[in-house]
Amino acid sequence: MSRIAGAPDSVRTAILPVAGLGTRFLPATKAVPKEMLPVAGRPLVQYAVQEALDSGIERVVLVAAPGRDLALRHFARDQELEAALAARGRSQAQAEVRMLATFGERLTAIEQAEPLGLGHAVGCATRALGPGPYAVILPDDLVLGHAPCLRQLLDVHDRLGGTVLAVTSLPPEELRNFGVVAPGVDDGIVVEVQGLVEKPAPGSEPSQLAVVGRYVLSPEVCAALPTLAPGAGGELQLTDAIAATIGTTPVHAVRFEGRRFDCGNPTGMVAAGVAVALADAARSAAVATSVRALLSGMDGEQA
Ligand code: G1P
Repeated sequence: MSRIAGAPDSVRTAILPVAGLGTRFLPATKAVPKEMLPVAGRPLVQYAVQEALDSGIERVVLVAAPGRDLALRHFARDQELEAALAARGRSQAQAEVRMLATFGERLTAIEQAEPLGLGHAVGCATRALGPGPYAVILPDDLVLGHAPCLRQLLDVHDRLGGTVLAVTSLPPEELRNFGVVAPGVDDGIVVEVQGLVEKPAPGSEPSQLAVVGRYVLSPEVCAALPTLAPGAGGELQLTDAIAATIGTTPVHAVRFEGRRFDCGNPTGMVAAGVAVALADAARSAAVATSVRALLSGMDGEQA
């Protein structure tokens, strides 16, 4: 594994790109931004902000499309609502609404005027924020596990510096939708990244290690963002900015502990909702009973 001299800069800020059009979720996303769609009663963006703060991040910057900053309202203080909940004895809901406002104190939003790609979205934030390093969370990728996924990346960054990405092994037919890693030295958890291909053509994948939406970006990657040329799909790709730093700055991938759900499509979001509910002690028994009843009913229909 390559190392850099001295302790790496600590990562205090997470960037959350949320400016996508949400076309796979139409018509739900016609009026409601995708990051506000609920998974088991909480909007997707809340899981991402919670993960950032649970990982020790101090400041979260949303990159939002113009006029689509509903997430900021979700995290704004609402004393009237808190008082109404208190008056009705809904102390748990009141505590969560209050907690959201404490998250909101750490939240700001930046506009991405045009949806030119993930590299452009992150570049809009880094241009405003300065050289980095930064964490990035893509709220579409919901990861459930014991330790927050981003924390696992930050631990590797603390040891090795540079850029760190989350990866998971996927079947070959799914790789065309992801960034895919060309691996070097591999200790079973941390993998040296020797190359990166965004949305490889079938048959040209360098491995089965697909990038999941969690990153720690070195200052060198941030410096490469403004020089990006259009890549896969004609978009400015974050993968290409990271690839441009390989050989000069360490880039590592982490096979994280946890389960990833693709909440960028309705099926993945349903699965994530069931998984969140099953992990919640107050709901798991009732949800498990409903799911079992549904599945046995389907078996009955097929029989
Ligand atoms: C983006 C990244 C891709 C990564 C994926 C993870 O793709 O460009 O490298 O593998 O997120 O979800 P998108 O899903 O925006 O097409």
